[in-house]
Parts: sequence; C-alpha cells; structure tokens
Amino acid sequence: MLIRKTHLSGENIPSSQITPLEAFHSATTDRRAFLARAGVLAAGSAAASMLPRRAFGMEPLKTVSGQFSTTEAQTPIVRATTYNNFYEFGVPKDQPAKNAHTLKTRPWTVQVTGMVKKPQTINIDDLINYRPVESRVYRHRCVEAWSMVIPWDGYSLSEFINFCEPLPSAKYVAFISLYDRKQMPEAPDDYNWPYHEGLRMDEAMHPLTLLTFGAYGQTLANQNGAPARIVLPWKWGYKSAKSIVKFHFTDKQPSTLWNEANSNEYGFYSNVNPKRGVRYSQERERRIDSGFPHEIPTQMFNGYGDQVASLYSGMDLMKNY
Ligand code: MTE
Repeated sequence: MLIRKTHLSGENIPSSQITPLEAFHSATTDRRAFLARAGVLAAGSAAASMLPRRAFGMEPLKTVSGQFSTTEAQTPIVRATTYNNFYEFGVPKDQPAKNAHTLKTRPWTVQVTGMVKKPQTINIDDLINYRPVESRVYRHRCVEAWSMVIPWDGYSLSEFINFCEPLPSAKYVAFISLYDRKQMPEAPDDYNWPYHEGLRMDEAMHPLTLLTFGAYGQTLANQNGAPARIVLPWKWGYKSAKSIVKFHFTDKQPSTLWNEANSNEYGFYSNVNPKRGVRYSQERERRIDSGFPHEIPTQMFNGYGDQVASLYSGMDLMKNY
C-alpha cells in the first residue's frame, strides 16, 4: 500500500512535478499486462485514424469482479457509447460519439486542491493503477427519464479520497471536468463551463461511489467521460461528472453547473426520486437494455435505498432535492 501511495503522489520529487510514468512501470506487478496494453494502444491509434466513427479511446482494461452488481440485463455497448450526454461535444444524444474523438486523453493529469494535507497533481495512469479496478454493474438513471444498466470499471472513490488526505474541515468535494474550447468547439455558449459537480463528503466516501476509468472491460470511450469520471448510481446521471481534471476539497457546498442553469429543477443532492418530477413525471423510465426499450417504474434512490437512505435520515428530500 505504501509503495503504491508513493508512486501515486510522487512524494520523492518536487511537488510541482508530476509523477513520471516510469515510476508506474517499475511499480506494476503485472508488467506483461501493461506491455500488452501499450501494444493495444499503438494498434488502437492506427485503427482510430482509419475508422473515425469508432468509440474513441477504448482499449482492454484488466478488472476484478466487484461488489454491488445488479444482474439486470445490460445495455448493449453500442447504445451506451452512441446515446450520450456530454454537452461539451454537442447536445443531441448522437453528437458526443461523433465529436469526442477530438478529446485528447494523454497526457492527462488530475489536480487535488483545497483543504487537503498537500495539494498535488497526479498522472492519470498512476491514478488508474493505484487500486485494482473492479467491474460493477450499476443502474444508470438520467433525469431525462431514460435508464441503462452499465458494467463500469473503477474503484471506490473513498480509496482515492483517503489518499488525498482531506483536512477535517473539508466537508465537500467538487469535481471539475476538462474544458478546452479547441477540443470542444460544439459546447453551447450558454453554460457555465467547465462542467462542475460536487458531493457531501459522506456521499463521496460511500462505497457505491465509483471513480471510473472504464466500462465493458475497456477504458472509457471518450464520449463516456475518458479518462476518468464519477459514477453515482443512486443519483440523476448529471451528478456523474466526466473527464475530470480536478478534485477540490472545501468546507462550503459546491455550486454545480446544472443548479446554476436551473435551480428549481436541479438541486445539489439530485437523488433519484420518482416523486419529484418538475416538467414531467419521474414515476417511470425508459429502460434501454438488451431488449426492446421499455418502460419500468422508477425506484427511490434508483433502487439503492438499502445502501444509501441512511445518508439522508432526517432530511426532507422534496426540499433537499
Ligand atoms: N459530464 C460532463 N463533463 N458533461 C456533461 O454534459 N452530462 C451528464 C453526466 N456527466 C455531462 C457529464 C449527464 S446529464 C448524464 S445523464 C451522464 O453524464 C451521461 O453519461 P453517459 O453519456 O456515459 O451515459
């Protein structure tokens, strides 16, 4: 554990410097898997230039079987990678798959800022290799009343937060996505970019909260939020920020992009709640799985109430929406 931590933080080099990839090469216990991945990477980029419409960024990811998985029918990968919300790459659902090839996911670093013992910058590959990557099949419910079942690959965000060593005064963590106009020319002007979201610390530390690097056993397609995103299966999908470049620890509830855009509809908590529909009912959802898209009832906390309801005991969730 200590060894991994040293490599992730780059403790032996000046804090201004990012952990070099060489450190990861020597740290990994599975060098052969790494080399295989590197080979696939090279082949993958050649294929990408020949097939501009493929799901960019995907390559095999080594995973172990994780907890909390549903056995419900999974959404076919082709649907999960072509029906997306990633407004930085265009608003219609099919646009991110067409446009996100412009997202450059290497080199990529993640900043840790705010109320932490030591602010730092981390290389994405060191982050991915910090803990075993688990496969977890979660329900994924968008506030637009569609849902999917996706096998995500990642590890509990709590593992990374413990590594970050937040100060006791830190009560929240904010997630900031990449915003680069050159890579994202389709981003509509009327949003307060970069995409920003946040959680209360106990929500962020909950074992269901997944720091996600892949799906379907492969690294994330760019349109799904490569190279790292959050997945929160009991919340509306917009809480799950994509393509994260910064984790900011704070004592104040972070402002969020969707709340700034429409505060009556999109609250800070955004727990899936069939009783709180604003422009339309949230009682039912259109499930996109391996069968024909069909309607099913929406469950409180998207069916994860046994695990998460206690986080909100004593709170009025119609007011704290
Ligand atoms: N993150 C960023 N940076 N930009 C976005 O537009 N859309 C959110 C969320 N994360 C979004 C984002 C919304 S509304 C949803 S429903 C999910 O991503 C969709 O994730 P998916 O496309 O992988 O299904």
